[in-house]
Amino acid sequence: MAVIEAVRSAPASEIRRARMLIGGKWVESASGELLPVENPARRQIIAEIPRGGAEDVDRAVKAAAAAFPGWAKVAPRERGRMLLCIAEALERRAEEMAHTIAHETGNALRTQARGEARLAADIFRYFGGLGGELKGETIPFGEQVLSYTRREPLGVVGAIIPWNAPVLLGALKIAPALCTGNTIVLKAAEDAPLGVLLMAEICHEHLPKSVLNVLTGLGEECGAPLTRHPGVCKLSFTGSTEVGKLVMEAAAERIVPVSLELGGKSPSIVFPDANEDWVVDGIIAAMRFTRQSQSCTAGSRLFLHADIFDVFLDRLREKTAALRIGDPLDEATDIGAIINEKQFNKVCSYVEDGLKQPAARLVIGGLPPKSGPLSEGYFAVPTVFANVANDWRLAREEIFGPVLVAIPWRDEAEAIRMANDSHYGLAAYVWTHDIGRALRTAHAIEAGWVQVNQGLGQSPGHSYGGYKQSGIGREFSLEGMLDSFTQRKNVTVNLSV
Ligand code: NAI
Ligand code: MG
Repeated sequence: MAVIEAVRSAPASEIRRARMLIGGKWVESASGELLPVENPARRQIIAEIPRGGAEDVDRAVKAAAAAFPGWAKVAPRERGRMLLCIAEALERRAEEMAHTIAHETGNALRTQARGEARLAADIFRYFGGLGGELKGETIPFGEQVLSYTRREPLGVVGAIIPWNAPVLLGALKIAPALCTGNTIVLKAAEDAPLGVLLMAEICHEHLPKSVLNVLTGLGEECGAPLTRHPGVCKLSFTGSTEVGKLVMEAAAERIVPVSLELGGKSPSIVFPDANEDWVVDGIIAAMRFTRQSQSCTAGSRLFLHADIFDVFLDRLREKTAALRIGDPLDEATDIGAIINEKQFNKVCSYVEDGLKQPAARLVIGGLPPKSGPLSEGYFAVPTVFANVANDWRLAREEIFGPVLVAIPWRDEAEAIRMANDSHYGLAAYVWTHDIGRALRTAHAIEAGWVQVNQGLGQSPGHSYGGYKQSGIGREFSLEGMLDSFTQRKNVTVNLSV
């Protein structure tokens, strides 16, 4: 493992002092305390953010609650129009946003950060167009009765997001919550708050005061009080399954609805007819090596048919070796850095665990270099272990780093059984030309999203979410928005009087 030295600071003139958005104002935390934000590729402090706590949460929730009645009364298409203005503005500032994301997350500008900035704008555009779709139903109780439903907002949404795709995941909370007439308090992740604050600045120019509030701070100090605040009417969380359970407990305490988008250990099943180059590319894409595999949908368990096992892995090694690891801001870089020291050490510990297993074969990668430019940041190298057993820690736990395990299989039913033998169920990938096999497998897999012959990321409009401990609820689509951010009221009228 590379020796991690103390984190350096950028020159004082370059360290940004960011603020939070509460009640339409850019503020410090009540305590006045700050937290550092680090560029993980350079191990350099680049900004300071307010260390928000319970008092700040309380101010933000009260501001959002005060803004709620007015916002809920704005005609839905007018709310949508504001979201469309935000989409335009985000697009105009997409390059600045992409640089901010790359700088603070370590995600490469060309392969990740630019795409994330564009997708965030697209999310606002998608939900901005849905204002007119908040429709209810009429219920046919007969000629003497008019019974209809209304989709009403819930109130203040408390949303908490992680750092792996912070702006995209933030957009996914803000846009549907606001489209449906809720107001929102969003807590950014402590490791990647700057892009989210930039998005908040852009949103703020187009929204009434206090409709959107954005807090920065640590999970236990700022996130936990938000989940427990009596003024919050709905909780929406993306992050680890461990914290998801705490959020659900807080929701249970007050009986508020909760959506959880949690971890994954998603299977990729390759049939013997799919021993082709584009499939190898697809496996690399599904594994999200170019986001250091810090993705909840990473296809991190590769079930390869035994007949093609070795030759497929040879090609996977060649193609993976061609990916360039380096400074996220360099246009030539494919793979950037791991978010922070804790995650870096966690990834290294899984690699060490794999290296210790006598049965496992290292196909490519291993521990990070101890010297040279890559030892200066939290750079992990894409690593593939072959002949891993499905019950090892390596194959069961979400590593959230570039460690792929390859498991051979012969019988289709056995492959499906192993794929489903996980407490997670977020995504899955199936690779074959045989349509019958592909769909049989897709239907048998316990996961919220199965892709056949592709390994892409989510698109707006897509009902995406987890089975099992990967989560509850869907937020990315019209139906998801309606289910997650509105409540149905039924009105029944006696027409005979
Ligand atoms: P985390 O789940 O602790 O953090 C996500 C967000 O939750 C952050 O904003 C954090 O401040 C907040 N949070 C933490 N503790 C909280 C609490 N008690 N109450 C309310 N909010 C709280 O994730 P972390 O620590 O950054 O990463 C740990 C592991 O979680 C990763 O290795 C990965 O396995 C998993 N993870 C999964 C993600 C996904 O999208 N599926 C995203 C990030 C992490
Ligand atoms: Mg944590």
